[in-house]
Amino acid sequence: MLELVSKVHDETRQGEAFAPFTVDPNPYKRHFYIESYGCQMNFSDSEIVASILNEEGFGATRNFEEADLIFLNTCSIREKAEQTVRKRLTEFRKLKQARPGLLVGVLGCMAERLKSKFLEEEKLVDIVVGPDAYRTLPNLITEADGGQKAINVLLSREETYADISPVRLNSNGITAFVSIMRGCNNMCSFCVVPFTRGRERSRDAQSILNECQDLFDRGYKEVTLLGQNVDSYYYIAEGATQPVTFANLLERVALISPELRVRFSTSHPKDITDDVLATMAKYENICRYIHLPLQSGSTRVLQLMNRSYSREWYKAKVDRIREYMPDCGISSDIIAGFCTETEADHQDTLDVMRYARYDMSYMFFYSERPGTLAQRRYEDDIPEDVKKRRLQEIVEMQNKLSAESNRQDLGKIFKVLIEGNSKRSELDWMGRNSQNKVIVFAKEQYDLKPGDYVQVTVHDCTQATLLGKITS
Ligand code: 5AD
Ligand code: SF4
Repeated sequence: MLELVSKVHDETRQGEAFAPFTVDPNPYKRHFYIESYGCQMNFSDSEIVASILNEEGFGATRNFEEADLIFLNTCSIREKAEQTVRKRLTEFRKLKQARPGLLVGVLGCMAERLKSKFLEEEKLVDIVVGPDAYRTLPNLITEADGGQKAINVLLSREETYADISPVRLNSNGITAFVSIMRGCNNMCSFCVVPFTRGRERSRDAQSILNECQDLFDRGYKEVTLLGQNVDSYYYIAEGATQPVTFANLLERVALISPELRVRFSTSHPKDITDDVLATMAKYENICRYIHLPLQSGSTRVLQLMNRSYSREWYKAKVDRIREYMPDCGISSDIIAGFCTETEADHQDTLDVMRYARYDMSYMFFYSERPGTLAQRRYEDDIPEDVKKRRLQEIVEMQNKLSAESNRQDLGKIFKVLIEGNSKRSELDWMGRNSQNKVIVFAKEQYDLKPGDYVQVTVHDCTQATLLGKITS
């Protein structure tokens, strides 16, 4: 029996459940192993790659030792992410020396950023493929089999892989990611993504709806619509007069069934519209949760970051969200120690965090990336110890806010979608509420299963988890 698995490696997603997805026994002659690093988009791309390889007769394996092809789907967002991949490659290098037929491929953002340099630097990498070139993988594998170094890092203005049905890797059978657009046009000055993932393009709305419907028909209960900047989703079908905006798309996905929860990520504070907020408020199955990256709370730093909003604008957006949905969860991404950041700028960040009362944040210190606007224009002038101290203060602030947010939930009743057993005990279920908070509760005598909704009263909390009891 073969199992399809993609390991998720991300500083921000550590500790996530690792549930193998099993397929029927099949006669695949060669097997691939794929490991994903970085954002949810990469994870979702690995599912497209798996589908392309399956079509070509390659079976997935969760054991790299029995693989004929090993792929790393890589991330370039911070230097540390790249270092992790390089370390992993040295491990596979040893394996390759012992098994000459084995091919090692690098996919994703590092492939795009380093291009042929990868083949020069990492002599034992055979295949290098950028995020828009996965359809050419089968040909590249043939080239590599013939002893050539195979590379395709062409970016595309059109590719959305709309017609490819992703093979769900690492799936719990209940929640799935659905990619709705690719690339990014924003050019935040610190960010390498516009260079590694190219220009923004939206996927055919009907193909998104078909994929969501198909997931629902197969028993999935939650879809997360993915894009670097979902609010700029914009699609005009051939012959249509009206475009489909993100608000329209959300509504159409929500209408598939009230039993299907809809989430999305990531929103840009400058682009999220009242239409989107009104649509969220209108449908109970669109989750009350918005990931709204702040990056910095200082208007001066935001300007240098090219974020196109001020601290006041951001705070007004938070107000607007709470006007539409007083119970909406909000989370953030924050960067400490961007170029020229002063103590006063840093205090501004802590101040906006307090104002927004984030339930959760992903927090980083600034890591200069080659080729970005910031690297070309500004000096990375904040000493590492200062960056780290500021980051520590940001983390402490978030811990306080998360604890406060969890305390506010004590005694409340939430509708929870059961995702599976809790990590600690088979006697407990783990699920999420609409606000994306994890809730753990005893199974008791009830006959429930993953994919069921259940009302749970919260009676306690740890730092990251709410603890509850089924409300009969
Ligand atoms: N340094 C640190 N953090 C970064 N991010 C993006 N680029 C950098 C960088 N150069 C963070 C941003 C973004 C998240 C995905 O990663 O906060 O929202
Ligand atoms: Fe990077 Fe900004 Fe685009 Fe996000 S919106 S991917 S931070 S350029």
